[in-house]
Amino acid sequence: MFLYFFLFLALIGTYLILRPLLIMIKLKVQFGKQVYFYYIPILGVIQIYRSSAKKGNPQQWVIDIITKHPEVKLIVSNSVTKPVFIIVDPEYYKPLYLDHHLLVKHDQSGIKEYIVILNISFLLSKGLLFAEGEKWKEQRSLLGDHFLFEKLKERIPMMNQVTRDAINNKQTVDQVFQYICSITGGVVIRSFFGQEAEGWLINDKPAQIELGEILKSFVLVRFSNFFIYFKQKLLGMKSWDYFIKFKQDLNQIISKRKSKIEKEGRKWENGDFLDVYLNKLSKSKDTQESYQYETEDIISQFITLFLAGTETTGALVSNSLLFLSENTSYLEELRNEAKSALVDGQVTADSLKKLVQLECFLKEVMRLKPSVVHPIVRQPKSDIQIKDLFIKKGSYILLGSFLANINSNHYEKPLEFNPKRWLQSKPIQIDNGFVNIPFAAGGRNCIGQHMAMIEARIILAHVILNYDVIKNPELTKVNWLSRGIQTYLPDDAIRLKKLE
Ligand code: HEM
Ligand SMILES: *[C@@H]1O[C@H](CO)[C@@H](O)[C@H](O)[C@H]1NC(C)=O
Ligand SMILES: *[C@@H]1O[C@H](CO)[C@@H](O)[C@H](O)[C@H]1NC(C)=O
Repeated sequence: MFLYFFLFLALIGTYLILRPLLIMIKLKVQFGKQVYFYYIPILGVIQIYRSSAKKGNPQQWVIDIITKHPEVKLIVSNSVTKPVFIIVDPEYYKPLYLDHHLLVKHDQSGIKEYIVILNISFLLSKGLLFAEGEKWKEQRSLLGDHFLFEKLKERIPMMNQVTRDAINNKQTVDQVFQYICSITGGVVIRSFFGQEAEGWLINDKPAQIELGEILKSFVLVRFSNFFIYFKQKLLGMKSWDYFIKFKQDLNQIISKRKSKIEKEGRKWENGDFLDVYLNKLSKSKDTQESYQYETEDIISQFITLFLAGTETTGALVSNSLLFLSENTSYLEELRNEAKSALVDGQVTADSLKKLVQLECFLKEVMRLKPSVVHPIVRQPKSDIQIKDLFIKKGSYILLGSFLANINSNHYEKPLEFNPKRWLQSKPIQIDNGFVNIPFAAGGRNCIGQHMAMIEARIILAHVILNYDVIKNPELTKVNWLSRGIQTYLPDDAIRLKKLE
C-alpha cells in the first residue's frame, strides 16, 4: 500500500519536473528555429543566470543566443515546474505592455514575503510599484502630473545642489556606484520631503546611505547565496527593524511641515510629494472618499520611489562613467558640451536641451547596459493567447526590450557602443515603437522616466566637469554584477579623481 503511494508521488513529481520540457518541445514543433529552449531540471533559469554571472555577466547567455540566432522570437526555460517565457520579439510583447492588466507582477526578490513576516507589508503594497487594480490607479493619477517635465523643472536647482554638495565633499571616489546612489537617493528624499528631510539620520548615518543599505541587504543576499538567505530569514531581520520606527520619524517630518504650512501658508510652487499627500490626506478626511489616505500610504510611496528611483538612476550614471573611462575622447566631447551648456556652473532647464550628446550617450548606455534589464517578472492571471503564442496561467514571463535592443534585425552593428547612432534620422531599422523602451511602456511604464533623465544629465555633467574618470589599469575585464533585475558595474572598475 505504502509502496504504491510512493510510486504515485514519484510519478507526479517526475511529471511536474518534466512538464516544462514537454511545453518546450511543443513550442519547438510549432515555431521551429524561432524558439530557443534551455531546460535544466528543477533549477532552470536560476542556474543558467548564476553560471552566466560567474563568467562575467548574468545576461551573457541570452546575449549569445540573440547574437548567434537573430531570428529567435522567444526563449523558453524553466523555474522548477513552471515554464519561463523570455519574449524577444517586440511584436509579441507589445500587446502585453498595452494590456498590462492581463499580467500580475511576481515578486522574484522575495521582499514581499519578507515584509509580511515582519508585519510591515504596507511598506510596499500601497506604493505604485506593487499596488494593483484600483489602488494602483488611484496612486498613479495622484502622482502622475507631478512627474511631468513642467513640474519636475522646479526641482532642477535642488538636483544641482544635492550633486554639488556631494562633489564638494569628495576628492577621490573609489566606490563609484555607491557614491552616485547617495546622490540619486538624496534627490528622491528631497523630492519627497523637501527641506524637512535635511540632516535626516537613520541609525546615525545619512538617510540616503542607510536606506540604500537596508534595502540592498535583502535583495543582495537573496540573489548571492541561497543559504545566507535562509539564515538571514531566520535570524537576521535586524536592519529591517528600522521600518517599525519609521512611522515615528515620518510623523516628526510631517508635523514639522504642518506647522510650517500653518505659519507660511501652502507654497504650491515648491510642492513636493509630501505636500501632494498632505493635501489629499486632509481632503479625504473631509469628503467621504472611497479610499482613505493615511500616514502608511506616505511611507509606502516614499519607500517605493526610493527603491525604484535610486539604484536605477545610480546605475545609469555609473555605467555611463565606465564607458567614459574606456574612451577619453568621449569624455572630452561631453565635457566641452557641458562647459558650454551650463550657466554659472548650474544646469538649467535650458541647458538640459543643449546636452544633446550627453543624452545620446545615456540612451546608448541604457541600450547596452540597461539599469533595468527587464521589468519585474510577470504571471498571466489566466491563460493568454498572443497571436499564435499560447501561454498558460501561472507561467513566468520576462518582457522585452533588452534583447530586441541588441538584435541585428533592429540595429546596425548592434553590439557596438555608438552614441552617435541616436543622431541619425532612423536609428532603429524596423521599429514598432517598442524596441527601445528602457523605461517600459504602456500604462505601467516608469512614472519617473523624465525625472531620471533630468537627474542623470545633471549628475553626469557635474561629475565630468569636476573629476577625471580613471579606469582601473589592472582590470582586464569588467565582471558586471547583478542585483535582481539590475546590472551595474563593480567597485573596482573605475575611480574618480578631482580635477586640479
Ligand atoms: C534610469 C532610471 C530608471 C529606469 C531604467 C527605470 C525603469 C523602470 C521600469 C522598466 C519600470 C517598469 C517596471 C515593471 O513594470 O516591472 C519602472 C517602473 C517604475 N519606476 Fe522607474 N526607472 C528609473 C527611474 C525611476 C525614478 C527616478 C523613479 C521615481 C523616483 C521611478 C519610479 C518608478 C515607479 C513608481 C514605477 C512603477 C510604476 C507603475 O507601476 O505604475 N523610476 N521603472
Ligand atoms: C501588524 O501591524 C498592524 C498595524 O500595521 C497592527 O495593527 C497589528 O497589531 C500588527 N500585528 C502583529 C501580529 O503585530
Ligand atoms: C572614441 O570616441 C570617439 C568619439 O569621441 C569615436 O570617434 C571613436 O570611434 C571612439 N573609439 C572607440 C575605440 O570606440
